[in-house]
Amino acid sequence: MYEFAPEANAPKPELYDDLASAARALVSGESDGVANMANLAALIWQFVPDLNWAGFYRRIEDELVLGPFIGKPACIRIALGAGVCGAAAASGETQLVPDVHAFPGHIACDADSRSELVVPVLQDGKVIAVIDLDSPLPGRFDADDAEGIARLAAIAAEAIG
Ligand code: SME
Repeated sequence: MYEFAPEANAPKPELYDDLASAARALVSGESDGVANMANLAALIWQFVPDLNWAGFYRRIEDELVLGPFIGKPACIRIALGAGVCGAAAASGETQLVPDVHAFPGHIACDADSRSELVVPVLQDGKVIAVIDLDSPLPGRFDADDAEGIARLAAIAAEAIG
């Protein structure tokens, strides 16, 4: 049993410090990538408020394929370059989208999503996966969230490959 206790009203940098510590503890000594992705998705869900979807897409050849997540069932395969996830995977850069309806080609897996943050997971400079967070609130994510999830992506890079 794991007992992680996110501080409800912690400022974001503190919240993401705690999330990074919990993530490191959780994947430490475990080599199974699916188990680690599943637990990291659950940890994001537990720590980061106001989400309706959180999880992984893995890069497999020229596609992203759905990985472990929390939320409603989602699109299984996304072409590189398509939608927010595909843009992050193709460019290797974080996509912070305050209004998904204004993002050309956004893929609406869950009609409740209003804003989205997608962070690439890089291993030796190559995108091996992306972490996708969706929120029902417009403009939910800012630079602190992008930075915090990038720290998680660095932990994931060592734990899911
Ligand atoms: N909205 C994403 C697709 C994945 S779901 O949000 C889970 C996109 O445009 O890439």
